[in-house]
Amino acid sequence: MPTSFEPATNPGLFDAVVNLCKRRGFVFPSAEIYGGIRSTYDYGPLGALMLRNVREAWWRAMIQERDDVVPIDAAILTNPKVWEASGHLATFTDPLVDCRNCKDRWRADQIEDACPNCGSKDLTEARPFNLMFKTYVGPVEGDSSVAYLRPETAQGMFVNFLNVLTTTRRRPPFGIAQLGRAFRNEITPGNFVFRTREFELMELEFFVPPADSPRWHQYWCDERLAWYTRYGIASEKLRLRPHEKEELSHYSAGTTDVEFFFPWGWGELEGIANRTDFDLRAHQESSGTSLEYFDQAAGESYLPHVVEPAAGATRAMMAFLLAAYDEDEIGGERRAVLRLHPRLAPYQVAVLPLSKKETLAPLSRDVLHRLQRYFMCEFDETQSIGRRYRRQDEIGTPYCVTIDFESLEDQQVTVRDRDSTEQTRLPIEDLVPHLLGRFDI
Ligand code: GAP
Repeated sequence: MPTSFEPATNPGLFDAVVNLCKRRGFVFPSAEIYGGIRSTYDYGPLGALMLRNVREAWWRAMIQERDDVVPIDAAILTNPKVWEASGHLATFTDPLVDCRNCKDRWRADQIEDACPNCGSKDLTEARPFNLMFKTYVGPVEGDSSVAYLRPETAQGMFVNFLNVLTTTRRRPPFGIAQLGRAFRNEITPGNFVFRTREFELMELEFFVPPADSPRWHQYWCDERLAWYTRYGIASEKLRLRPHEKEELSHYSAGTTDVEFFFPWGWGELEGIANRTDFDLRAHQESSGTSLEYFDQAAGESYLPHVVEPAAGATRAMMAFLLAAYDEDEIGGERRAVLRLHPRLAPYQVAVLPLSKKETLAPLSRDVLHRLQRYFMCEFDETQSIGRRYRRQDEIGTPYCVTIDFESLEDQQVTVRDRDSTEQTRLPIEDLVPHLLGRFDI
């Protein structure tokens, strides 16, 4: 249920994080040298690392740490009959209005009664605009070669339900999970990577006996909320919000969103939907293939119901960055620090020789190579040590390992903690177990 906590909105935070993302190489406007393309982004070296960590954190919780979920990796382009049966061709639409004055186009449900661009009230009636990207498969452009870029990964799991059931000998309750790119021709993308036309989805379809779906829906709401706090978002910046009836997607009998308090207010991070047997039934009818599960114990066949937690990886990455951004003062100097969970930070460890002198190089490289087997590491030997710490703080690196001239004598190094800035001296031999012990494994 919505919490009563309503923190103040914070546009300064949004600007600080967007700025940091560009300056340090998390996210770039796509094809910037050509002027970009509206609301499309490329993930730079740090962004690519962090996005991979978000995916892995999800994979860990949804697949690795469970014994009732299996993964698949389905095609992005598929038979268009999938989208006909699923209802996406007919109903995956947003209401579109044109401004007759300035010709801008808007989502009717996102504006009041005037054009946000020019203020004119001369708007067309709202009409449904299908969000799927259409393309053609093969060299001939015609009705018979039409295909669509997937707007959700979910259908790949429904059409493979039978394959997974027979090859893995699973029985409900069990899940199929998948992550990957999805494409929606959004009318008004925006708010940085919050809403883009190409984004990354992380979805679980959890198949259950029909009578059990309310219980599993509650279970997945609790699990998914806990995942965001586990990875560092304060619980007062998160809430569960059940959808009103008129908000529900065409396939859903009930959806609850996990919401995050973005700098502009509460916004959706993830939707947990009770899709009933809508999709399996639709594909069964359309394909003529039975998708029922035969329950041997009960001696009866049924179409499982589906509970679906569907999260955006790119949107989650943005939320983790916003939640982690902080500014404080160390030794009278202001610093920007990303207090990211160690598993989400682009680099887990920075290896910093105190000096560029040749004598430190072999030991520093040796320490780097030891750590690289376990962690994503950055090696930096330029500028003063203080400035190098600041650089690592700003990109969220939780630990810096410094090699100094004494290290050559005593085979010990200094580990500095990003959040407390505390420094601990310890033997190189103990470095890997010490750092591994600080991670949530
Ligand atoms: N299969 C169900 C489904 O796709 P959804 O609520 O439309 O549900 C799931 O999308 C999640 O995907 C959202 O909660 C959001 O995090 C993310 N998402 C949806 N549209 C997006 C967009 N245009 N840009 C970035 N993320 C998006």
